[in-house]
Amino acid sequence: MSLKQQTILITGGLGQIGHFLYSILKNSYQICILDNESEAKYNPPDDAFFLKGNILDDEIFAKLPAIDYIIHCAAQISINQSVNEPVFDAQNNILGTLKVLEFARKNNIKKFIYLSSAAVFGQPHFLPITEEHPRNPISPYGLSKYVGEKYVLLYSELFALNSIVLIPFNIYSPLLKEDDPYAGVLSKFISAVKQNLPPRIEGDGKQTRDFIHVKDLALAVKLALEKDTGENRVFNIGSGKAVSVEELAKLVIEISGKDLKPVYVEARIGDIKESYCSTEKVIRILDFKPTIQFEDGLKELYNHIEI
Ligand SMILES: NC(=O)c1ccc[n+]([C@@H]2O[C@H](COP(=O)([O-])OP(=O)(O)OC[C@H]3O[C@@H](n4cnc5c(N)ncnc54)[C@H](O)[C@@H]3O)[C@@H](O)[C@H]2O)c1
Repeated sequence: MSLKQQTILITGGLGQIGHFLYSILKNSYQICILDNESEAKYNPPDDAFFLKGNILDDEIFAKLPAIDYIIHCAAQISINQSVNEPVFDAQNNILGTLKVLEFARKNNIKKFIYLSSAAVFGQPHFLPITEEHPRNPISPYGLSKYVGEKYVLLYSELFALNSIVLIPFNIYSPLLKEDDPYAGVLSKFISAVKQNLPPRIEGDGKQTRDFIHVKDLALAVKLALEKDTGENRVFNIGSGKAVSVEELAKLVIEISGKDLKPVYVEARIGDIKESYCSTEKVIRILDFKPTIQFEDGLKELYNHIEI
């Protein structure tokens, strides 16, 4: 069967990441999107089958066409909301994942890809963070994503579901919002500098993050979908490079060409100090290398953000 005859279900396919997955996969596969539009960033594309619905709704799955693969992106992704509404978070991220897994189990899905989150790790015990790093989530969101991971891997054990868990680190995209839990700091600094205001660094600015462009994440998902990874099921997706918040502020100022200096304000309570991932496994097994240098992606974002 040619790939184009095979159908991929992207749950949450109208979101920041789902849209780029649709874009990279649409020429090779039929795409089906299931999204309740609660946090949609894009309109349903004309050349995909779109079903508006909630993954928590059992009835919705009967309305889907025949599906070969699933990429499960639908989730509530706000750390703040998970703290304020932990039940809502658990319903979407734990029960929602379980419902999609049940659909996969009953429909002999060829591969199930789950997008986890670096939030599962909590405060790192060692760096770089490997796939084996202990999971000690410090938010209901981190915990719900972790339980999702465990369910996915258990379904592989119990029901021979061919699954892959990808752990994206800090994803940025052209539609990045300032309140984005992963990379909002990029938008905040860019907006400030564009308004001739200094970037505000919380704490000493030595805290690090591992930023990766959404197009590179989409590439990693495609590789995970198409490559035989054997018994290897869990992969970090990041650049493997630590960028400090201080360096980030300097880079944004440099891109702007303006004469600004960052200001330092009080640190956020519970902020993770250092975070970057080991990419050894994803390079070795999936042959994945990011194609967009951070400086180039940041320039693109700078030009894209309007104030
Ligand atoms: N953005 C990041 O940096 C990042 C990092 C690590 C992991 N992730 C994970 O990647 C996945 C996608 O994240 P994103 O940044 O694209 O988020 P997003 O909020 O942009 O997209 C999520 C999409 O899912 C839909 N959705 C939410 N709940 C739903 C439900 N119950 N039923 C149907 N549709 C629902 C929303 O309408 C939205 O279109 C999530 O699972 C998230 O945990 C994201």
